[in-house]
Amino acid sequence: MIIKTIGILTSGGDAPGMNAAIRGVVRTGIFNGIRVMGIKNGYNGLIEGNIDDMLIGSVADIIQRGGTILGTARSEEFQTEEGFKKALNVLDVFGIDGLVVLGGDGTFRGAQKLANAGMPTIGIPCTIDNDLAYTDYSIGFWTAVETAVEAIGKLRDTSSSHSRANVIEVMGRHCGDLALYASLAGGAESIIVPEHDYDIDEVCKKAMRGRLRGKRHNLIVLAEGVGNAYELAEQIAEKTNIETRVTVLGHVQRGGSPVAIDRIIGSEMGRLSVELLMAGNKGMALGYKNNSIINVEFEETFKAKKEFNYDMLDTVTILSI
Ligand code: F6P
Repeated sequence: MIIKTIGILTSGGDAPGMNAAIRGVVRTGIFNGIRVMGIKNGYNGLIEGNIDDMLIGSVADIIQRGGTILGTARSEEFQTEEGFKKALNVLDVFGIDGLVVLGGDGTFRGAQKLANAGMPTIGIPCTIDNDLAYTDYSIGFWTAVETAVEAIGKLRDTSSSHSRANVIEVMGRHCGDLALYASLAGGAESIIVPEHDYDIDEVCKKAMRGRLRGKRHNLIVLAEGVGNAYELAEQIAEKTNIETRVTVLGHVQRGGSPVAIDRIIGSEMGRLSVELLMAGNKGMALGYKNNSIINVEFEETFKAKKEFNYDMLDTVTILSI
């Protein structure tokens, strides 16, 4: 079947680089004579028929912008039988015969359901958490790392000035990648991630050791969900007598202009998603493995087991003696 109209949506948490991927899809579609329709606010917009034509100009000036020009949402309705049927009907009414979805695990589960129902659907991995196991990197991750590293650098300044310890909570949901990469690049003293048990006494000993040799700062990067940053800070202060402050980076990590690699992978995957649809693929997710772009069945993305980089964790520990 020749693809005539492609729909595109972004779903779940936004990630810097989504706009580059949207641009990649729209321009590649138009280049190949395909009509591209933008679906607003994720699967909610699909259910509501909140859909508009996307022209060459509608993606001008967005490659450098964070967020998603299409809007995003986490749709509960799409997960109901009724919502799902409505979505299929809307795709039919708008004559959409191929779909590209940008997001993470939840987005892909919806995409697989659509693909199984006969709608050719391609997934592009976008999440700052980098928690999709089948791909080395997801779009948005490197920008979020950069944001966290910049924040750690600023906190190091004030930590040194006041001779304090600083707990910095970063996002990641159940995945410690953002904490890990940011800790290594930011030169953090201690790191606490869900994949590895930590010992509060070790964290405190390290702070004391540093203090004894004249080090004035102490940065502890905590992945969200492992523990309460404020309680941790209290414990550290109590055990070490070092004044300890907390910074929760929060949603600032989700925004900002995407770094080059997120734009590059976004653009490449945007193009490839259209080409996969044109080649007759029914349901695939794009990924990035060993410096190349790959495509796998959605089922593979769910089956893969995320491997934490314990070697990098060792590097963080060794370098922060
Ligand atoms: O999945 C991305 C993420 O930013 C997680 O790191 C975080 O736990 C969650 O989304 C926050 O979700 P919300 O946007 O609903 O606050």
